[in-house]
Amino acid sequence: MPRFRAILVEDEPTAAQFTTDALEAAGFDVVVYADALSAQEHVDSTADLIDLLVLDRRLPFRPGEAPSDEVGDDLLTAMLLKHPDLAAIVFSGHTGFEHLQFATTERGIVSLGNDAFVFDRVRLFEKGQSLEFDEYVGRVHHALSALQDIQITGVDPAELTAHNRRLLRRVAFEFGGSSIDAHTLSGGLTGSPVWLCTVESDHGSIARVVAKRQIKTREPGGFQNLCPAQITAGVVDTIKGFCGGFYVTIQQLVGSSPTPLLDLIDTDEATAVAAIGILRDSLGQMSSGQRANVSIEEIAAPFAPWSTVVERGVRFGIHVPPGSRIAATRSAPRHGDLHPGNVLVADGHPVIIDFDSQTSGSALVDVLALHLGPLFHPDSPLFGAAWPTIDQCGQFATDAFLDDCPAPDYFAFLADWSNQSFSSAREYSALVLAYAVRQLKYPDVLRDDLTRSRAIALANWAAARLDSD
Ligand SMILES: Nc1ncnc2c1ncn2[C@@H]1O[C@H](COP(=O)(O)OP(=O)(O)O)[C@@H](O)[C@H]1O
Ligand SMILES: [Mg+2]
Repeated sequence: MPRFRAILVEDEPTAAQFTTDALEAAGFDVVVYADALSAQEHVDSTADLIDLLVLDRRLPFRPGEAPSDEVGDDLLTAMLLKHPDLAAIVFSGHTGFEHLQFATTERGIVSLGNDAFVFDRVRLFEKGQSLEFDEYVGRVHHALSALQDIQITGVDPAELTAHNRRLLRRVAFEFGGSSIDAHTLSGGLTGSPVWLCTVESDHGSIARVVAKRQIKTREPGGFQNLCPAQITAGVVDTIKGFCGGFYVTIQQLVGSSPTPLLDLIDTDEATAVAAIGILRDSLGQMSSGQRANVSIEEIAAPFAPWSTVVERGVRFGIHVPPGSRIAATRSAPRHGDLHPGNVLVADGHPVIIDFDSQTSGSALVDVLALHLGPLFHPDSPLFGAAWPTIDQCGQFATDAFLDDCPAPDYFAFLADWSNQSFSSAREYSALVLAYAVRQLKYPDVLRDDLTRSRAIALANWAAARLDSD
């Protein structure tokens, strides 16, 4: 029988032994804590996959302290926050109506596979209800075991963390599959694993999707929901519950073998330019937002807090003006990380992916990422290439910037798109400044002398423009 992991917090040795025995008999390995603080510290620092949480309500905060109901209640609240998808059980010697309400009301449920299994987020048992407890943990074990039945192929399961194995099985389970063939897709800078998954049932393949591990749920609304359908690969589901604190977003697959726009810039510029033409037209169909006069600090926020721009500016000799300067802008939902690695081109058509950085702000937030991303993205063919020189970066937004450019049409198109997008010169400069300064936090940029100097030169260009009006 596969063994799963339960955390038990119980200070009373006889009760701890009794519950441990029951959990072990049901198929759980049990880690026991006798006070709230040790449980909290362990759970905060552990990389283990935790499957079930069992708490006594009456607990001491530290070893040797007097136990109280409040400590158990606080621990429950903290644990539920920390583990948004964990099923919890609370034991109480004297459950009154009020406590029942506190422990269970509006805590939600943990559900698997379109409600094939549903558990209360918090289930209360009175001490002595051992039959009921056994029955319940047996059901939890049954659900976990049904997940564990699922086969993983493609990636070597031994190379995956316990969390990632669980996440892939959750994906298969959600689609009604019994096996999942997963292949790692080259991830970007965020470090969230992304897999191309084929979910299979006993009769063959049922779904081919892209699954991505997330640490937070998507906000409803936002760029992805509003972006015209012809240029997005939608997130069709967010999977949670028994995911070890993570979420998994499920995205439709883009085409059969799409090419990142980033790769096309120097291999097939004509296709790249046609693709950004479609992007500009399609994004132009979205609401552009109301014109407003706000501080440049607020305008630049999607790239970096102004305090960071100032601080890093000092470190790299960039004179950053006060963030309180006012500039006109238009704010609307934006992608937030629209570098050309996040645009896949399938049969000449651009499709935007990777909605993890959705934000709201100036149109330039996305246009600048397309424009400048190729100079700074480590996978870019232009990263560290001869063009542009540091001198040219000091002449950004002039014709001189394009001299000797290996993809002049791409960059001219984006210069033009930028010019059409901004509401004020200050808005443009503030965003170039924040974008360039943000690059100075990435190790690849800092390691590479030329790229680092490009970022500094661009930042200086923007800071000087902000200072000169
Ligand atoms: N919907 C999709 N269809 C096809 N390939 C995709 C899709 N989503 C992501 N990929 C591939 O996986 C890679 C990483 O995905 P992405 O969401 O951009 O993650 P990261 O946050 O690591 O940048 C992409 O660069 C792309 O090659
Ligand atoms: Mg990406």
